[in-house]
Formats: sequence, structure tokens, C-alpha cells
Amino acid sequence: MRRKIVAANWKMNGSEGFAKSLISELKVQLSVLDKDVKVVIIPPSLYVAEVKRLVSDAPFAVGIQNVAQWNQGAFTGEISAGMAADVGCEYVLVGHSERRQLFAESDQVVAEKVQQVLKSGLVALVCVGETLAERQAGQAEEVVSRQLQIALQGLASDKWNKIVVAYEPVWAIGTGKTATAEDAQAMHLHMRGVLGSLGAPASDISLLYGGSVKPENARELFGQQDIDGGLIGGASLLADDFASICRAV
Ligand code: 13P
Repeated sequence: MRRKIVAANWKMNGSEGFAKSLISELKVQLSVLDKDVKVVIIPPSLYVAEVKRLVSDAPFAVGIQNVAQWNQGAFTGEISAGMAADVGCEYVLVGHSERRQLFAESDQVVAEKVQQVLKSGLVALVCVGETLAERQAGQAEEVVSRQLQIALQGLASDKWNKIVVAYEPVWAIGTGKTATAEDAQAMHLHMRGVLGSLGAPASDISLLYGGSVKPENARELFGQQDIDGGLIGGASLLADDFASICRAV
């Protein structure tokens, strides 16, 4: 179902104390948020269960930043999608550019992870986006198409309601540079086309924008027709900024 979503990707930041104080602040600041907006908190894996407990009296969902492409076994250090589901996680980030670049996750591995997430009944928040060099070479749409096609090809028709896509241009992540609202809208529209060609009910899928979203630019980005919300990094670590971004959607 297409809905408005704002997701907080804490990346490798925070602590138990940080989680407690940020969540309690968000509960106050977002107590009157529009019911149509889904807020998803995605802390480091180790804090997922604790954050789930902290949000038990708030309408926030919890996600995990990564899972393994396997379901169980001798994979030291890995966490399965089933385990994430077991502790109450509802969303899983798959294919974040930091995973692709720093941990050599290929499109094929991303596709395997999507399958694991879907098997566990969770929502896969699939991240795609081009590098600066790819954009400058005029390949942005081609790269995003390929990432979507490999990650999501052959999905059964009853699985699309568990897919959310985030467009995060790599050059906009943590840099303070955002795509213009027009460029972001154009890419989101393009992605709906690609999803449609893969058999998805494209107009029912939530598409998020990520990359240096701040309170100052959120309203314009989220005001675009095909942008249904955001995946927020740095600004999600600050209660005032994240709450303000949630109110902008
Ligand atoms: P920033 O908001 O810090 O640019 O990070 C975006 C991101 O990577 C969210 O997943």
C-alpha cells in the first residue's frame, strides 16, 4: 500500500542512552503527527530490540539496517531476517549504498537479501542510486533501472505490498548536496515506470527520497507528486530536525 513514510537510518551511531533520550523526545514532538505518516526508526542492530521496547507506546515502527542473504547457519557475525522479525522488526534496509560500496554488496546479493526479507514477512526498504560519476556520465536512470531490475525481478504479485524503494543518489548522502526537487521527482517517476515493467502495481508503491534531507528542504522534496517520504541519515539523530522532517511530509 502506498503510504507516507519517514525512516530514520541512524547508521553506526548512538548508544542505549542516546536511543532512550531521542525516542522519548520524538514521542513528545510527534504526538500529534498525521496518522497517515509512518515513522520508522532504524538503529544499529544491537539496539533494535531495545528500541522496539522503547516505542511500544508510540506509533513508530522499527527497522534493521542490514540482514544476511542466508536464513541460518554458520555465518559468524551475521543476523537473519527471521531473527529481525523475531524481535519485532518490521522493516529492513536492503542495498544501502554504504553496504554496496564499503561491503561489496552486488546487485545479486541485494536480490538474495530481498528474498530473505520477504520470506520472513518483513518490508524490504530497497535502496538504489547512482554515483556522481554515473550521473555526470548521463547514466543515472540506467543505473537505477538495473539496480531495481536485479533486486526485484520475478517477485510474486502478492509480495509487492512488502516493497518500499528509496532513491538515494550516492553523491547526496552525507554531503549536504541534495538532488533538486525536480531531478528527484523525475527519478521517482522513472522508477515507477521501471517497477511497472517488472509487474508491480507501481502507483501503490511508496517511493522515498534520501540524501541530505533537512528541515529546510524536506517540504519541497516531499511536495513532489511521486515522492512519498524520506530516508533520513544525519538529521535523524537530532530530535528537533527529525520531528520537523516528519511534519513536512
Ligand atoms: P544523510 O541524510 O546523512 O545524507 O544520509 C542519507 C542516508 O544515507 C539515509 O540512508
